[in-house]
Amino acid sequence: MNADPTPTRPDRNLALELVRVTEFAALAAAPLVGRGDKEAADQAAVDGMRYALHSIQMDGTVVIGEGEKDEAPMLYNGEHIGDGSPPEVDIAVDPLEGTTLAAHGMPSALAVIALSPKGTMFDPGPCVYMEKMAAAHEVADLLDLDRPLSDTVKLVAARKGHAIGDVMVVVLDRPRHEAGIREIREAGARVRLISHGDVSAALLAVTERSPVDLLWGIGGTPEGVISAAAIKCLGGQLLGRLWPRDEEERTAALDAGYDLDRVLDRDDLVAGEDVFFSATGITDGDVLQGVRYPSAGGATTESLVMRSRSGTVRRIRATHDRAKLRALGGDRRFG
Ligand code: FBP
Repeated sequence: MNADPTPTRPDRNLALELVRVTEFAALAAAPLVGRGDKEAADQAAVDGMRYALHSIQMDGTVVIGEGEKDEAPMLYNGEHIGDGSPPEVDIAVDPLEGTTLAAHGMPSALAVIALSPKGTMFDPGPCVYMEKMAAAHEVADLLDLDRPLSDTVKLVAARKGHAIGDVMVVVLDRPRHEAGIREIREAGARVRLISHGDVSAALLAVTERSPVDLLWGIGGTPEGVISAAAIKCLGGQLLGRLWPRDEEERTAALDAGYDLDRVLDRDDLVAGEDVFFSATGITDGDVLQGVRYPSAGGATTESLVMRSRSGTVRRIRATHDRAKLRALGGDRRFG
């Protein structure tokens, strides 16, 4: 006989703790929004994230971080975070996704963190970029990195019952995408060019009834893994294929055993089934409102807080007292 009358009672949802981590990163970066110094904004976000991460009981290893140990003093790849108590988790962080967006006061800069069970997050090794395609559940099976883009946008239009001219593809505005952009336009579809921030764009692309039907293009591999974690929670699909920048990177990846032809899906990028994700807006965007200062001493944040196992998606709006935060954060600046 089971003595526990509620054997399946809810367990700890780490995402509800992670929201404080991304809030702190966003609040720390926000005073540097529009100041033209992306390194300073990034450093502030890292400091804020690191400060709040100390409060989380876990045995975590950073898989996607700020870089290698010698170039990143904090949140470096391989760093152990937490007090060593369970759960054992892989961690992906991007304290400031969209450093240039924040420095220029432009939309869609985010603070992001994702956790998955230990050993389940894809480590991109030497590969900085990957080709990506993402879309919502309704058209997830149509994604294909080898089929011509013109055919894929037509299939998406047909599946959705739309005219091809209604289809919108979000693409990073980069010379490497010129041929792809031309192909999408020649097929009759539309392109939303973004200067940075393909995590925010991936979130938008997988959202049902969003103004964007598809994300395509070559962007950061860390951002691909983080987007895959979010998509495990939200639904939808992301395909990725490593895209070495030059011969040196190609050789390093092949020597390390990476298969450069392999198409990775969201479950290859984040294999764990209990994924926790939190993102807080730093600047206003399509997905999240940025940090605002409604009064001299106050601040507001908006966060997307999710867990894949339960499928719960929360939007958490918080108000903060900046003087109290400053007192709690020692000499850290919260504006
Ligand atoms: P940062 O936050 O590191 O500046 O990255 C922003 C970003 O736009 C990502 O969203 C994207 O995946 C990547 O850079 C694209 O890289 P690049 O600017 O080198 O084309």
